[in-house]
Amino acid sequence: MSIATYHKKTIRDIDVRGKRVLVRVDFNVPRDDAGNPTDLTRVNSTLPTLNYLLKRGAHVVLMSHLGRPKGERNLKYSLANLVPQLQRLLDTKVDFCDDCIGPKAEEMAAAVQPGEVLLLENLRFYREEEANDKGFAAKLAKLGEIYVNDAFGTVHRAHASISAIAEFLPAVSGLLLEKDLVMMSKILAAPYRPCVAIMGGSKVSDKIGVIRNLLPKVDRLLIGGAMANTFLYAMGHKMGASKLSDDYVELVRELLQNDVEKKIMLPEDLVVADSFDNNARSRNVGIDDVPEGWMALDMGEKTINTYSAIIRSAATVIWNGPMGVFEMPNFAKGTEAIAVACAKSQGSTIVGGGDSLAAIDQVGVSYMITHVSTGGGSTLEYLEGRRLPGVDVLLEAED
Ligand code: 3PG
Repeated sequence: MSIATYHKKTIRDIDVRGKRVLVRVDFNVPRDDAGNPTDLTRVNSTLPTLNYLLKRGAHVVLMSHLGRPKGERNLKYSLANLVPQLQRLLDTKVDFCDDCIGPKAEEMAAAVQPGEVLLLENLRFYREEEANDKGFAAKLAKLGEIYVNDAFGTVHRAHASISAIAEFLPAVSGLLLEKDLVMMSKILAAPYRPCVAIMGGSKVSDKIGVIRNLLPKVDRLLIGGAMANTFLYAMGHKMGASKLSDDYVELVRELLQNDVEKKIMLPEDLVVADSFDNNARSRNVGIDDVPEGWMALDMGEKTINTYSAIIRSAATVIWNGPMGVFEMPNFAKGTEAIAVACAKSQGSTIVGGGDSLAAIDQVGVSYMITHVSTGGGSTLEYLEGRRLPGVDVLLEAED
């Protein structure tokens, strides 16, 4: 599958004892209206790296983005709310600096004691972060002696704390980044067959590149979620008021025409509703029977059975994106069924993307998945075969 073997230096390959280590994490976690984190998967996933460093007496300085504040200091996106959680999870002192560069951050970073942590404020309060600005990266680099990237979810972004910073500090991989990439390359380098990919979610734009790249490599590609509406529409089915990616209809039609081996599978029935509401009137209909003004919000029973059987008997399964509006309990059935089918599959399974992770969690099967990836966009770009800027800049392993 032309997946490169991971060959980068990690924190195991360098001496971190007593060093000030600047770690880029991805604490871009879901929050409630008051800004409190509602899911700590991403924080928990980085604990192996943080505990490794803390146990060796490193002085740990953490930096992350949260949301998309677009260069404005907007406290709705402050990372401060994560401090109590981090303190509890790491069982050590965690200080917070309300800036990520400048004299105050430098002073606080210098004061971090061995085995203790400083969390910096959201990197994206500065426009320079997303601009991959060298001057900004140089200012960040003043806060550590070694740079560690453990932010798998963000390695596809050429941002200052991910890319430019490696020009100023020795740059190595954290254990989560390593695990995500090693596990995916292990499973995908020579996948056991049949290899099945399941792509859901709403936007065709996010997935079209991945679908194109995966199609020659997989035996079946199951499409679900709102994305399936655009595929069905491109095939001539009337989709009522269902969500469509209008700009992509032509591209999708071409993709379907080029799929001579007929690997792409689409829903054969749908759960449609008369409004976008959990309590809307709904029914299970065939793909040619979507009533005018109604919209598809989940896949139907028949599709669930067909897809589940294919997934259960596959030897390799890759899943990204929900199969319906699974945050509404009445339209979560398709997504939950796919989560269970992945867990029960006889093959190796990779699940990535925030919503799919939430779904496997919701039905309590995370522990039955071979590899749960913390990346959403980064997993997709990896599957698409694109280079990951955050990986490219890390030091090569020596052996
Ligand atoms: C994610 O949640 O996919 C990562 O944290 C990257 O966030 P971004 O899409 O805002 O760059």
